[in-house]
Amino acid sequence: MENRDFLITNDGICQIFDSVVHREISAHPYRLYRLITEVEDIILTKQNDKIRLQEICQIVRLLLDSSPWLQVFYLEPSPDTGWSVLTLYEEPGFDLTVQIVAWLPGKVSPIHNHATWGVVALISGSEKNTFWRRTNDLKFPDQIKQVGSQILEPGDIMSLMPDAIHCVEPLGEEPTITFNIYGETDFSRRFEFDNVTNTAKNF
Ligand SMILES: [Fe+2]
Repeated sequence: MENRDFLITNDGICQIFDSVVHREISAHPYRLYRLITEVEDIILTKQNDKIRLQEICQIVRLLLDSSPWLQVFYLEPSPDTGWSVLTLYEEPGFDLTVQIVAWLPGKVSPIHNHATWGVVALISGSEKNTFWRRTNDLKFPDQIKQVGSQILEPGDIMSLMPDAIHCVEPLGEEPTITFNIYGETDFSRRFEFDNVTNTAKNF
């Protein structure tokens, strides 16, 4: 696996993310429960989303490097929708989304933001991410324009700021499999965008 870390800013700019792991290599696997515990500590002690992402990206990297089970632990995508979601952690009162998502080639996601910080690690396959930003046109407040794209390969980790807007397209013949972790969604700010009609709807 390669080790590329990307940050997608609130304006949809894709940057190399400096999130080098400054940790001793442990003889023990870095397990999922440990990651979730550390993510909670980061949320409680760090208010800045970029700093949160930098620290969470580091420990997602540790998980990737010591969890071969991630390669095979997913649900077959539905032929109807083209995707599947396997929830890895859920607890009432702690709004953390931890899941493995599989997408079939030939499907493209809606253009959307997440209205919270998010970290997506590509486990398998190849995935094109296209990034957008609002044009801030007073006449068309929900108008967006494309600002870039990045193809993710296995081992790549993409960190998304809350207002980053993207859409996802699996490439090649194989499904893409991603490990995803998101914070608490602000549903009033989460949208799907239509770049033809210049509209956005809550979802
Ligand atoms: Fe997304």
